[in-house]
Amino acid sequence: MDVVVLPTPADIARAAADRIADIVSQRPDTVLGLATGSSPLPLYQELARRHREEGLSLAQTQAFLLDEYVGLPADHPEAYRNVIDREFISLVDIPREAVNSPSGTAEDMTAACAAYEEAMRAAGGVDIQILGIGTDGHIAFNEPASALTSRTRLTTLTKQTRADNARFFNSLEEVPMHAVTQGLGTIMEAREILLIATGTSKAEAVAQLVEGPISALWPATVLQNHQHTTVFVDEEAGANLQLRDYYAHVHHNRPGA
Ligand code: F6R
Repeated sequence: MDVVVLPTPADIARAAADRIADIVSQRPDTVLGLATGSSPLPLYQELARRHREEGLSLAQTQAFLLDEYVGLPADHPEAYRNVIDREFISLVDIPREAVNSPSGTAEDMTAACAAYEEAMRAAGGVDIQILGIGTDGHIAFNEPASALTSRTRLTTLTKQTRADNARFFNSLEEVPMHAVTQGLGTIMEAREILLIATGTSKAEAVAQLVEGPISALWPATVLQNHQHTTVFVDEEAGANLQLRDYYAHVHHNRPGA
């Protein structure tokens, strides 16, 4: 796991966009894994700017979303499919039909989750997965006590996650109780992962993710076993890291750089 501490969310957005642009230039038909939520928004804005001003094209890519609320009507503005469309897809040239998302409205959830996994496999798997992290250590909607090998499934959100996400709704009661999420085992199959965490509220989860014991209590810790994960944090989200100075030292003294 590489840990990169940068001064601001804008610096993180540029560094993560550099990596994505690099991968897409090597492989135009890259399969992108997209997170919603506020953490990746500066990255999506930076990619959109490069598309608009510098000719970055994502036209041959495909995308898979991590998760979706259950119980929201398909046209609800906070349904993740609509959020990602508004905040990213509509600003770049990824064809809408190349964007896949778990269904939050399927009658047969088990079959829909299995079909989603199959679609990911058929696409060749995710090349680069963008992740945020919840204050309780979730990635996608794998809440504490999720199996570290879990697959795409229906899950129940914690009180903390619903409270954290209430800012996107008119009230806490409106935040769905359930979601469909890629599992931890599913996410672990991505070839490369970029996790973005900013702000003080993420400091404890980030310290656990990077330096804590691997535990279902902090689901993101499973990423310690991933071969190619970069954790981008700003000063605030990185504030509780014990080996902060060492990560900066590693970053500035890369072999061959
Ligand atoms: C969203 C997702 C979640 C968020 C996490 C952090 O698709 O998978 O795990 O990444 O809840 O959300 P923000 O970025 O809004 O703090």
